[in-house]
Amino acid sequence: MQISVRIGDMLREPADLAVLATFEGAPLPAAVDELLEPGDFAGKAKQSLLLYPRGAAAPRRLLLLGLGKPGALAADGVRQAAALAAQKAQDLKADTFALALPADLSLSPASAGQAFAEGAELGLYRFLRYKTSPSESADVTAATLFVGADAEAFQAGVAVGQAVSGGVSLARDLANGPGNEITPTALGEAALALGQRHGFSVTVLDRAQLTEQGFHGILAVGQGSAQEPRFIVMEHGSAAEGTPTICLVGKGITFDTGGISIKPAANMEDMKMDMGGAAAVLGAMQAVGALGLPLHVVGIICSAENMPSATAYKPGDVIKTLSGKTIEVINTDAEGRIVLADGLFYAQRYNPAAIVDLATLTGAIMVALGPHAIGMMGTSQELADRLSTAGEAAAERVWQLPLWDEYRDMMKSDIADLKNTGGRFGGAITAGGFLSAFVGDHPWVHLDIAGTAWVDRATRPYYTRGATGMGVRLLVELLRGYVG
Ligand code: BES
Ligand code: MN
Ligand code: ZN
Repeated sequence: MQISVRIGDMLREPADLAVLATFEGAPLPAAVDELLEPGDFAGKAKQSLLLYPRGAAAPRRLLLLGLGKPGALAADGVRQAAALAAQKAQDLKADTFALALPADLSLSPASAGQAFAEGAELGLYRFLRYKTSPSESADVTAATLFVGADAEAFQAGVAVGQAVSGGVSLARDLANGPGNEITPTALGEAALALGQRHGFSVTVLDRAQLTEQGFHGILAVGQGSAQEPRFIVMEHGSAAEGTPTICLVGKGITFDTGGISIKPAANMEDMKMDMGGAAAVLGAMQAVGALGLPLHVVGIICSAENMPSATAYKPGDVIKTLSGKTIEVINTDAEGRIVLADGLFYAQRYNPAAIVDLATLTGAIMVALGPHAIGMMGTSQELADRLSTAGEAAAERVWQLPLWDEYRDMMKSDIADLKNTGGRFGGAITAGGFLSAFVGDHPWVHLDIAGTAWVDRATRPYYTRGATGMGVRLLVELLRGYVG
C-alpha cells in the first residue's frame, strides 16, 4: 500500500472515503456537525458512523471514528483506528482512504505515523494463498494521513511501520501456512530468501551436519519424521566495538503431534502454528534488514517436526544435547524445550549482550495469562525491563513470572542432568527453568507466546482468526531501543 502524509484539511480534499478520528466529547467541525442529529456520535472508543456529505464536505464518504477519552490514546489507539478505517475502505470497495487524527495526540509524530502504517497494513491482512477463486474485495492501494504539522516526522514513522508490518505479515503467513508446506526445510529456504533480499548471511544445517556437530536435541525431536530437521542461523551486521550483539532464538516445530506422547485429535490442526517463535524471528529479521538497524542481530531457529513413528524418540530416552548436558525424556510432547536447548547453547558462542527466545512452549501459559499477554521469565532484570517497556510501546505486552531456583530444581532427573517435564504445577515456569540451564551467564529472557501467537477470534481489529505474528513488533521495538 502507498501511504502518504499530507498537511491540510481533509474535509476540503476529494476522497473515496475520509475517516475523521476524534476523541470523546471533542467538538466536530461545523460542516460535519450539521450532518448529525444531536447525540448520534459521541466519539466513544470504537464507535463509528458513516456519513454521505453530498457536497457539505469534499469527500464522497465520511466515516466518524471514536477514539475514546482524550489523553488515553496510546499508539495502539491509532493502530486500531487505522485498521478499522482500512477495513471500511475495503468493505466499501474504495481503493483509497484518508484519515485525520486529532491534533492533540499525546504521541510523537514518528510513533503516530508508525502506528498508522502498521494498522492500515495489518488490518487488511488476509491469508488467501489456498483460496482458488479470486477474492471479491479489491485491494486498497493507497492511504493518506492528514496531519497539522511535522509531515516529515510522520512520514519517517510510516516508513518504520511499513517495514515492521512487512515482518509481521511474513510471520503470519508462515504460521498460518499448513504443516505439509511449512516444513523445517521450507523455514530454511525462507531464511535464505531473506538473506538474499537484505544482504545478511544465512547458514542452514541439515540432518547430516546436525549429526556431525552434535545437535542431538533437535535430532531427537525430529527423528520420528520424514521431514529433516534444520538449524538456521541468520546474521545481520557484525560484532564490532560499541555494537551490541543480540541473539533471537525461535522454536520452529512445524507440526507438533506430541510424538509418542500423542496429543488428542481435537484442535490438533492448530499445531501447525508451533513454529510461531521461529516465524517471529524471521519476521523480525526481515524488518531489521529493511530498516538497516546498526546492530549485530543473530536470528537462530531450531526446527523439526514432532511425529510418532517407529523411529521416533520415546519417553525414557536420554539425549546428550549440544551443550553436553543430558536430558531424560519424560514426555515427548515437551519437545520445544529440547530443541531450544541446542539453540540457546549455540547462541552463547556470540558472547551476546542479550539472548531472547520466543516459543509456543506451554499450554500452562495460556491457563495463566490467556490471550492477552506473553509470559516472560529470565536471568536479567535489565533485559526483562527493556522487554516490558517495548511490549507496552508495541502493544505486544509481556508479563513476568518468577524463575527461582526452586523451579529449576523441579527439572532435575534421577538419571540424567535434567528431565523434560516437571509435573503439572507451574508448568510455564518450570519450562523456563529448564531453558535456563542452557544460557550460561548471558543475559537471557524467555518469551512464551503459546497463548498469543494464535487467536481463535480477532481480539483486535488488526488480527484475524489464526496467526497474529506475535513477537515481531515487540522484538523490533526492543532492538530499536539499543540503537544510539
Ligand atoms: N506446542 C505445545 C504448547 C502449546 C499448546 C502451544 C497449545 C500452543 C497451544 C508444547 O509443545 C506442548 O505440547 N507442551 C506441553 C508440555 C507438557 C507435556 C509438559 C503442554 O503444555 O501441555
Ligand atoms: Mn508439544
Ligand atoms: Zn510444541
